[in-house]
Amino acid sequence: MKERIRKAVFPAGGLGTRFLPATKVIPKEMLALVDKPILQYGVEEAIASGIEHIIIVTGRGKSAMEDHFDVSYELDAMLKQKGKTELLAVSRGVSSMARISYVRQKEPLGLGHAVLCARELVGNEPFAVVLPDDVIDAEPPCLKQMIDVFDERAGSVLATMTIEGPGISAYGVLAGEQDTTNPRIYNCTGMVEKPKFEEAPSKQAIIGRYVLTPRIFALLEQTKPGAGGEIQLTDGLKALAREEKVFGYTFEGKRYDVGDKFGMLRATVEFALKRPEFAEKFREYLKGLEL
Ligand code: UTP
Repeated sequence: MKERIRKAVFPAGGLGTRFLPATKVIPKEMLALVDKPILQYGVEEAIASGIEHIIIVTGRGKSAMEDHFDVSYELDAMLKQKGKTELLAVSRGVSSMARISYVRQKEPLGLGHAVLCARELVGNEPFAVVLPDDVIDAEPPCLKQMIDVFDERAGSVLATMTIEGPGISAYGVLAGEQDTTNPRIYNCTGMVEKPKFEEAPSKQAIIGRYVLTPRIFALLEQTKPGAGGEIQLTDGLKALAREEKVFGYTFEGKRYDVGDKFGMLRATVEFALKRPEFAEKFREYLKGLEL
């Protein structure tokens, strides 16, 4: 029987140190891209991809995420009383978006460890992992594209993007051959974390979307802490690729690394230019800057 991807895990237990001082009190995942927390972009992508159950891995001091997706009685009552029906719909829309569960990662022991924290909530079925600090503008949504590949090939799927030149060294890089029938698919045999440009096994950088079989949990449990004393998801994925079919998939769309200050600036400009209510005004403003 073919198993449907129903659940998506959002690791959000990290410290977000690259975004200090903003992230001293505010979770990185709650930073706004234009007017919406980056976590909400990921949740909306997952829902639009057919996901029914969102599992957010949180950490100390990050309860703002739970409040965001909860009902805010005072705010809703005030908006209702003042007749602000559009804003009321926005507020209520967020709190009724999806079935969301939370699990705490007591210490930020790495991305692999964060995924492992969701084991009981996921159970023994294939699932998605969405890193909220990768915001992806794509139609159909990136995760939907990946779920289609999972359904067709019956193996785990890692989202990749093609990086020409030395910039590849900033990523986990996929090793494996391009599929003969679909050039967007790679038959993954392994991966190398942040290789030197000359040593990169391909031009396929692994980014923050995964569709995984539940076998990953047992493999992560056996994974020893690697770089920085953290349990790396990459190490678990390497082990998975030794045992099962794992595919790289070059998604169609554009990805923004909003966990990084420059990435957030780029995304802010590009997303603002797409907003009908102020795109024109913003374009004029940018044109008027003496650069
Ligand atoms: P990052 O490495 O980008 O996030 O992990 P970080 O560690 O919070 O940020 P920096 O590098 O210090 O600035 C990608 C995602 O994985 C989560 C993060 O919250 C982020 O959404 N993560 C990372 C965890 O949930 N737990 C961890 O132990 C590490």
